[in-house]
Amino acid sequence: MRVKLVAGNWKMHGSLAANLGLLDAVRAGAAGCKADVALCVPYPYLAQARAVLGGSNVAWGAQDVSEHAQGAWTGEVSGAMLADFACRYAIVGHSERRSFFGDTDAVVAAKFSAALKAGLTPILCVGETLSEREAGITGDVVTRQLDAVLAKCGAAVFSRAVVAYEPVWAIGTGRTASPAQAQEVHALIRARFALEDAGIAAGLRILYGGSVKAGNAAELFGQPDIDGGLIGGASLIAADFLGICAAA
Ligand code: PGA
Repeated sequence: MRVKLVAGNWKMHGSLAANLGLLDAVRAGAAGCKADVALCVPYPYLAQARAVLGGSNVAWGAQDVSEHAQGAWTGEVSGAMLADFACRYAIVGHSERRSFFGDTDAVVAAKFSAALKAGLTPILCVGETLSEREAGITGDVVTRQLDAVLAKCGAAVFSRAVVAYEPVWAIGTGRTASPAQAQEVHALIRARFALEDAGIAAGLRILYGGSVKAGNAAELFGQPDIDGGLIGGASLIAADFLGICAAA
């Protein structure tokens, strides 16, 4: 039985003052939650997340990681630096990184590998754009994105990783994939892993992301291959995020 995971993705939101109430509320509200809960915060707030969430059942993580271990890479943050702040997770390949910051499949695979080497659990995001869905190539796109990482790292390491299916057209749009649409792609993802290793496929947590709210979470999470959610907008409001945690 896969334990569900609900991971918040704050994106570029927050301030020291505003975060405090949110972190405190999630810490308190998630106590006793049966699902795993995590918050992926902007880099400068990792120390604050650690201070507030340490000792609770809410983990914290980053939204990206450098593909490089150290050196002359101005502006980059390494996996070891994230591990220094006791991060458990690092999101890699979020569609906003892929589309606005040039993260190619190869770069995403390198970041995934770097996260693993630092002992972090990468959350690998995959998903198609609206035009790709309309062209009927959703499966091809998602498979290509997965295969780049599988070719570099192999399937076995996915015992220490998470996959998130995030259709680009559903992110921040209020337009959620229907439970059936999401389940179809989640099943395809699991089947891709089953070709490599049945045990890895069976144990792999595949999150859905894209306009998940407290009101639609239970139906999404009730699908056989949906093992939780990656939550953007709704992770910024404690009651909304905790409602999603409760649904998991
Ligand atoms: P959303 O974002 O929940 O605001 O749609 C999800 C994500 O980008 O991870």
